[in-house]
Amino acid sequence: MRVLLTGGAGYIGAHTVVELIAAGHEAVIFDDFSCSSPVAIERINEITGTQVCNRTIDVTDAEAVRAGIDETGPFDAIIHLAARKAIGESVSLPLEYYENNVGSTIVMLAAMREHGISTFLFSGTGTVYTHQEDLPFVETSRTGLALPNPYSKSKRICEEIMADFARTGPDRRLIGLRYFNPIGAHESGLIGEDPQGIPNNLMPIVARVAAGILPQVSIFGRDYDTVDGTALRDYIHVVDLARGHLAAIEHAERGMHFYNLGTGQPSSVLELIAAFEEASGRQITVVDAPRRAGDAQATYCLPDKAHVKLAWRAEFGIGRACGDYWRWQQQNPEGYRS
Ligand code: UD1
Repeated sequence: MRVLLTGGAGYIGAHTVVELIAAGHEAVIFDDFSCSSPVAIERINEITGTQVCNRTIDVTDAEAVRAGIDETGPFDAIIHLAARKAIGESVSLPLEYYENNVGSTIVMLAAMREHGISTFLFSGTGTVYTHQEDLPFVETSRTGLALPNPYSKSKRICEEIMADFARTGPDRRLIGLRYFNPIGAHESGLIGEDPQGIPNNLMPIVARVAAGILPQVSIFGRDYDTVDGTALRDYIHVVDLARGHLAAIEHAERGMHFYNLGTGQPSSVLELIAAFEEASGRQITVVDAPRRAGDAQATYCLPDKAHVKLAWRAEFGIGRACGDYWRWQQQNPEGYRS
């Protein structure tokens, strides 16, 4: 297949491009590098031994997208990953988040229609599930717009837009993936997560503490009703996640279909830190802190639908993911700027 990836130089995008090429597909990247680095493309080329076609395009710009597809197409599928994803920033910049995340999705769906592209895959989030009583989350678990931040809401709105759009043509194949918590890196250590500024997510913070860049990890809440009092998440290796994209476009069915991509095996904050200590051989200093506003006690899924329908299942555990993340961290202490 010829696949167009928006945001293909980002964390999930770069790993997806590598897996697509490894499976014999052809990938073209549209990325404006506002949240990613062109160095990622060089690294993808190094891993795959190819020269990936890429264009610097802001995918909220319909004209630029049209011209880019005219030049680099035709395509069998679009994987739309480009989005802004910082939760805290979305609270202070809601208009920018809706404009970027919803606007780009509308532009890319219109491009799908205009250029006769049959398959569209959307990068969504497991945070669209609203009821803790529904754990483990399945695709029919309750969702809604009662979500704590504009980022998650923008993703949920896109899902609804896609569902409406799917009804306008019987041959359209639309896939909404709902990711749980991606961690890890490519085993080469050449591509990985490269957060801009001070990271907010657990994994990059833990890696920086292990590397001596940050002094300690704050444990946001030890009074949850869980194994050790810390919150539970479904951490999934980014390479497994990338392979989930591949499986989803290869098995795309007509209509709109949602799939959870997770492991189904939740880990606590302390368990993830212990796994990183083991993988890195470094001791990680932790301090107790209050719960973080908006955090859920637990989010994890039952990934059975993806297994049955897409023949996909996560293969790697958190130990492997921590080892791979540590290799990326050591080889690139300042990310792609190193
Ligand atoms: C967040 C986003 C989610 C996004 C995901 C990317 C929210 C509500 N959700 O998920 O939309 O897809 O990042 O991976 O923000 N923790 C600490 N100390 C830290 C940082 C985190 O104890 O310094 C804890 C958190 O309280 C949480 C767990 O670690 O229990 C994971 O946090 P994080 O990596 O930020 O991911 P989520 O909040 O689950």
